[in-house]
Order: sequence, then C-alpha cells, then structure tokens
Amino acid sequence: MDERNRGRVTKDGIRIYEVSDFAGMRKAGHLAAQILDEIAEYVEPGVTTARLDEIITNKVEAAGAKSATIGYKGYQHASCISVNHVVCHGIPGGKIPGRSNDVILDQDIINIDVTVIVDGWYGDTSRMYVAGTPKPFAERLIQVTHDALMKGIEAVKPGNTFGDIGFAIQQFVEAERMSVVRDFCGHGLGRVFHAPPNVLHYGRPGTGATLEEGMIFTIEPMVNLGRPETRILPDDWTAITRDKKLSAQFEHSVGVTAEGVEIFTLSPAGLFHPTKPA
Ligand code: MF3
Ligand code: CO
Ligand code: CO
Repeated sequence: MDERNRGRVTKDGIRIYEVSDFAGMRKAGHLAAQILDEIAEYVEPGVTTARLDEIITNKVEAAGAKSATIGYKGYQHASCISVNHVVCHGIPGGKIPGRSNDVILDQDIINIDVTVIVDGWYGDTSRMYVAGTPKPFAERLIQVTHDALMKGIEAVKPGNTFGDIGFAIQQFVEAERMSVVRDFCGHGLGRVFHAPPNVLHYGRPGTGATLEEGMIFTIEPMVNLGRPETRILPDDWTAITRDKKLSAQFEHSVGVTAEGVEIFTLSPAGLFHPTKPA
C-alpha cells in the first residue's frame, strides 16, 4: 500500500488502515468465528439463550480476549441472540418474543452475533443456526440471506462504491421476493466497534463513498420473509419485524485489498453456512 495513505481518513471519514493492521483484524476475526463454530453443538431444542451466552462469555475469557458488547451502551452480554422474528439485538436470557421464557424450541431459527476485542482489534460476525428441523421456507430465508451477504462481499474491490454493495444485496434479495431491512446497517470497524461509514444493504450502483484499499467494515444484511419494517421492544434493544414474519442475518468483517477483499471472520471449521454439518 502507498505509504502516504497510512492512517489517512477519507473525506467521508473512513479510516485507511495499514497492511500490518490487517494482521490484527485477522486474529480478532478468527476468534469471533471460532467461537461461533464452537457454539454450534449447543444450539438445540431445550437450550436457553442465557446458557448459550454464558458459554460464549467463557470462551471469550478463556481466549484471553474481551467482549466488545459487554458494557457497550449499557448492553450486558457477550452475544446478541435473535430468534425467529427478532431482526437483531435479541438479549440473551430475555423472553423470546411471543414466549414466556428464553428456551429454544424445535424449528426455531437463531442468529448469534459475537464481537470480540483481541489486542485492541474488533472482530464482529454473526450467522444463522437452526434448532431441530426448520420449515422449508425458513431454510430458504437463511440460504437467501447468506447468499445476499456473499453477493455484497463480491462487490468489494477498490474503485467500486458502497452503493454497489447495497445494490448487489438488495437486487438479489428482492428477486427472491424477500425484503432488506433498512433500519440497521453494517459499519466501519477496526480499533473501534462502530465507525464510518454506514454500510447500507440497499442502494444504487455508483453511489456513496468509493472503496479504497485499507478500508475495514462489516457487511451484515438482515433479510425478512415479509415486509422490511422493524420495531424496538420496550427493553430498548430487541428489534422485531412489525409483521412478525421471520428474519435472518449473516455478518462478516472484511477489509479492502488491492485485489478485492479479505474476509477476517471466515469459519475455521467451515461452518458459516450451514452451521451444522448434515
Ligand atoms: N454486533 C452488533 C453489530 O453487528 C452490535 C451489537 S451491539 C450490542 O454491530 F450492544 F447490542 F451488543
Ligand atoms: Co456489526
Ligand atoms: Co455483529
């Protein structure tokens, strides 16, 4: 990378990281992804979201890392666990919307989102899990959401724009007659959790900031089977679909390279999707 670009912040407020910084992101991303690999065996009917978060908390600690979400804006857990029509930011141990407790049931679809800090670098990733045997339309939602993230990642290369990423995702999802959530977006990250830019999962080609080598951000599309509108529950965190239809999400932390993209949160065990081997 051009030395003069190091540590630079673009006119859009986006930091350009050094090649050596990517090594830090690689380590943080690897741990976050490894924890999501290791939680897979515990996600089954009967487990509580509180128990899953407890296991994740222990794994973060055992790795000598820190959770980015504990203490973040008052949030108190090492993960967000979002079940069925919860779009994101489901609180472990909280009542699953529509239920009286936090017990996972057969046919539930579950997003688990973990962000860890390793040597000051943030690794942020989430993926979808299924309990028991989900309904075919739920499986299809998960597949489309995963593929939408990968379409977005394919649009990452120097010279493309953030609008190109959003367009790739939106076009793919809407062709499948599903909808892209507008109320939450991806974000720059690195030595901080949430930084510019807002990475929208919809948009028009050629719009928005231009991607440059050294940028680091998440792409984390939320896709709904019904309408895109969301609502925040009185706990001030849990976001649900207004129409109570299912929602899914996948998230990777990525960096822009000279050739295109590096994914920092690839699953070491190859369990990003599907989360459980057949
Ligand atoms: N990991 C989430 C993201 O993808 C943020 C969670 S913030 C929390 O940006 F406080 F809800 F945990
Ligand atoms: Co994120
Ligand atoms: Co996340």
